[in-house]
Amino acid sequence: MDLAKQNGAKHAAKASGLDGVVVADTALSEVDGERGRLIVGGHDIEALAGKVGFEDLCGLLWTGALPDAATRGAIAAALAEGRALAFEQIPSLEETLTAEDGSAALLSCVAHFGARAAWRSEGQRGWVELAHVTGAVATFAAAWARRRSGSTPIAPDAALGHAADFLRMVRGAAETEAAARALDAYLVTVADHGMNASTFTARVVASTGSDLVSAIAAAIGALKGPLHGGAPGPVLDMLDAIGDPSRAAAWIAAELAAGRRIMGMGHRIYRVRDPRAAVLERAISELERDGSAGAGARLALARATERAAEAQLAERHPDRPLKANVEFYTAVLLDAVGLPRELFTPTFAVGRAAGWCAHVEEQRRAGRLIRPASRYIGPIPTA
Ligand code: COA
Repeated sequence: MDLAKQNGAKHAAKASGLDGVVVADTALSEVDGERGRLIVGGHDIEALAGKVGFEDLCGLLWTGALPDAATRGAIAAALAEGRALAFEQIPSLEETLTAEDGSAALLSCVAHFGARAAWRSEGQRGWVELAHVTGAVATFAAAWARRRSGSTPIAPDAALGHAADFLRMVRGAAETEAAARALDAYLVTVADHGMNASTFTARVVASTGSDLVSAIAAAIGALKGPLHGGAPGPVLDMLDAIGDPSRAAAWIAAELAAGRRIMGMGHRIYRVRDPRAAVLERAISELERDGSAGAGARLALARATERAAEAQLAERHPDRPLKANVEFYTAVLLDAVGLPRELFTPTFAVGRAAGWCAHVEEQRRAGRLIRPASRYIGPIPTA
């Protein structure tokens, strides 16, 4: 038997995509795709999003418990320091900030931060280091959006919470509390989600003993791929194309007949509706109640589109549930708080950075190099 066949027999064909392969023990989050349950640090996501702030969620992921008031204040201050440290570097990043793609710009800025940041020489470790890097991601994402729209980057304000300050750094206006609250709920919702591709990437880099910033830059590289963090922009394009709830069913039917996928529907793990979709839908409803212009109309359109897509996908795939995923209502929420669609994936990174950092710390503690095997299917030289 040749080597390829032997190896094939040894490693039955599970390797493609690593579906179902357990690569780490984690206390950070658990995704139950059958029941549609997401647990983060021992809490259901429904008990966190809209109930605790992003600073609390960082505390939960980085210290193992929801923080008391003093720790929460210290985390908020360290995130603000990270935003400020990153802002000091903006003058030397002018060229990077003109990149066409926001995630590419973010990746380069974060790598630059790793090479230059003052905190490295101060030997920061523990969650302060995590907070500085997480804070920096927000400043760089906002600065890219400003540059893209031809405006000047805005300095961070340490007096504001992370979500509110990010929104202000992007939009340049004093933000309504309601919009900041909705964005805060979004950042909490997406902060961690099991062993997704970018989190795995961060852990692989961390497992080599490399530094935190290298792991986060690599994770951004994974997130920017369209199969991972790139769907919310296209969801908004779809809603724009449909325009009115009465046209949703016909538009979806035409799209499926043309063999195209409906963005924001389906998930590799969930076999029921993604619980994060419901959490974000609730946050948008609250925003609508608080009077955000346009949130209500867009929400009604999104709901009608989801209903039409779910029904038609169920008809076409009776054995494969295809329901709304997190990206569906992400698009509606981020649009409603006034973020431009090209900033959606970098904004995902603003929230997910907290989870990546926590996984890097956890991987450092595990202390074992991640080094899987491959199955050689090439030719064997004859002796
Ligand atoms: N619209 C239409 N059909 C879909 C679909 C969608 N959004 N998602 C899956 N399908 C169909 C596939 O065409 C396939 O049909 P087939 O068996 O007749 O070929 C079947 O459902 C199974 O799809 P598969 O690609 O095996 O599922 P997956 O688990 O690999 O894919 C996604 C998961 C998320 C990549 C997929 O559902 C998708 O592309 N969704 C749209 C993009 C998106 O929203 N991404 C964000 C994810 S959080």
